[in-house]
Amino acid sequence: MGRQRVAIIGATGSIGTQTLQVLRDAPDRFELVAYAVGRESAAVQELAAAHPGAQRFVGLSGLELSDAILGAAPDLVVAAATGLAGIHATINALHAGAAVAIANKETIVAGGELVIGAARSAAAQRGTSVLERLRPVDSEHSALWQCLAGESVDRVERFWLTASGGPFRTWDASRIANARFEDALKHPTWKMGGKITIDSASLVNKGLEVIEAHRLFEAPMDRISIMVHPQSLLHGAVSFTDGSMKAQIGAPDMRVPISYAMNYPQRSEQPARAVSFADMRELTFEEPDLQRFPGLAVALAAGEAGGAAPATLIVADDIATSRFASGEIPFGGIPALLRDACDRFGGRAAPESVEALSSLRDEVQAFSVQWRPA
Ligand SMILES: NC(=O)c1ccc[n+]([C@@H]2O[C@H](COP(=O)([O-])OP(=O)(O)OC[C@H]3O[C@@H](n4cnc5c(N)ncnc54)[C@H](OP(=O)(O)O)[C@@H]3O)[C@@H](O)[C@H]2O)c1
Repeated sequence: MGRQRVAIIGATGSIGTQTLQVLRDAPDRFELVAYAVGRESAAVQELAAAHPGAQRFVGLSGLELSDAILGAAPDLVVAAATGLAGIHATINALHAGAAVAIANKETIVAGGELVIGAARSAAAQRGTSVLERLRPVDSEHSALWQCLAGESVDRVERFWLTASGGPFRTWDASRIANARFEDALKHPTWKMGGKITIDSASLVNKGLEVIEAHRLFEAPMDRISIMVHPQSLLHGAVSFTDGSMKAQIGAPDMRVPISYAMNYPQRSEQPARAVSFADMRELTFEEPDLQRFPGLAVALAAGEAGGAAPATLIVADDIATSRFASGEIPFGGIPALLRDACDRFGGRAAPESVEALSSLRDEVQAFSVQWRPA
């Protein structure tokens, strides 16, 4: 088989950089043909020097970004930007016959049927599974995907996602509500971009991941459970109807799920650090506390409600985390803003087009930037 033509959206970020490592480790399998980033930076200059043959796109979004990326005729698009900038590109790449390795959970959660529907029709056309076309990169979803290998989905009893619990796992509610930005950035096990690190501290990220799993695996929300597992070694598990449970275990290293998605259906020969049984002497699991982490409760409720609620959650959370980062609202303001935005807009029908999603986004953004804590 020839080399895979790879395009990366968000090439200078945490996932983008690790994707480039996986790509460079296997030059016989992958060729970088295009990449997109938000702004000019020293990192883009370095990338341009290292990959002079690849097309570079800076600061594009929507259809412009989609046209640019697809112009390079990729076989595989790695969606690794934050937010919704890449949603057109993701949907159109699927329609154009490229596989998409998707880290960008915002697109799956907010885009819902628009994204999954595109993956479903691409899969039907090629006679493959939906997940072969839209490949999970989020570590928990990669774990579930790996657990499902060789299984039939109608024999699944329950999906389990683990959460590290973040830096505030042992804090009381009032201390969490007043946590500082620097505290929220101290993730105990994963090194990630700023937005997802704050979402991991509020556990909103885990709520987004339950919705992401609900979409990707087409499973009811109430069949997906969360376990707080501070060691971050067991990333996800699936219980089956015969009483068996499969789990995926590995070091907290995003190169593993990235590489699994890029190399699928094979595994890479470039190992990450392997986990030993000595590392696993103590694996602990506890239920998440929805009282201390109200943002998780709001996110799960948005997933249950469906309609416009998941998209509202994504847009409001983007603004809420950046307003927290700039000191405009307290950490406890994040769940409050999300709840108010979902109350206001979540009852609407799910957007039926990317344009409808964009206009909902504009309204939720306008509401969220002027929102004040009670
Ligand atoms: N980091 C992780 O370990 C992890 C794990 C699981 C899932 N995820 C998900 O993966 C996605 C990326 O996360 P991250 O942590 O890698 O974020 P990040 O470090 O903040 O990187 C974001 C990347 O997106 C780029 N970008 C922003 N606007 C863009 C645009 N309009 N067009 C193209 N690129 C654009 C940024 O470029 P500039 O810097 O130039 O703006 C940067 O390269 C998120 O959806 C996150 O939830 C991340």
